[in-house]
Amino acid sequence: MPAIIPSEIEPRAAYRLLTSLVTPRPIAWVSSLGADGTPNLAPFSFFNAVAGSPPTLMVSVGQRQGRPKDTLRNVQETGEFVLHIVDETLVEAMNLTSGEYAYEVDEITLAGLETLPSESVRPVRLAAAAAALECRATQIVPVLDAAYTMILGQVQRIHLRQGLLRPNGLVDARLLRPVARLGGDEYTRLGEVFELARPSTVPGWRPGSG
Ligand SMILES: Cc1cc2nc3c(=O)[nH]c(=O)nc-3n(C[C@H](O)[C@H](O)[C@H](O)COP(=O)(O)O)c2cc1C
Repeated sequence: MPAIIPSEIEPRAAYRLLTSLVTPRPIAWVSSLGADGTPNLAPFSFFNAVAGSPPTLMVSVGQRQGRPKDTLRNVQETGEFVLHIVDETLVEAMNLTSGEYAYEVDEITLAGLETLPSESVRPVRLAAAAAALECRATQIVPVLDAAYTMILGQVQRIHLRQGLLRPNGLVDARLLRPVARLGGDEYTRLGEVFELARPSTVPGWRPGSG
């Protein structure tokens, strides 16, 4: 098969190709608040961790009809958001909140979700989420030539469901049961979990120490 040149194919084809190749992608379910107090909730799978300390996350948000999606607008206005990790129990509600609703629509109410107050930021967090990360936006970076903007956020506070955190400091993925996005409408659950020790070649250096 000949190589594919992204600039020679339709944008939608390039999107479908990329998002079915870069898999599985974790899903951030982001609660935010506009300057006028309008709440919002939406999922994003252009999402990852980008720094361990201070813990920093990235979510890349597109546009709708040439205007920033509500989440981006809110973060631009207020600089705060709460990011929830989507697990198996949350997928239906998560999907419901992905509809392209008008700015005034509160997807939290629409999906019938219960909330809890956040402590470091103003947007609420979802009571049903096993993990909620209260974040402050530190950088808002337009993606060159793309209708996307990366939001980088520093995690201020992490709420975890009781029992998720193991004594070794790692969250137990088997208990978290995250769901990840593949291409199109395809998703996946966690498969087999296995361990692989990192080689240590530099004296005194341990994985995670830098
Ligand atoms: C699982 C999933 C992942 C998504 N990932 C993204 C993404 O990374 N970036 C994006 O702009 N839209 C993404 N979307 C679409 C948004 O959720 C959708 O446009 C939503 O209406 C945006 O809401 P807002 O305008 O309230 O911010 C995703 C949808 C789903 C269902």
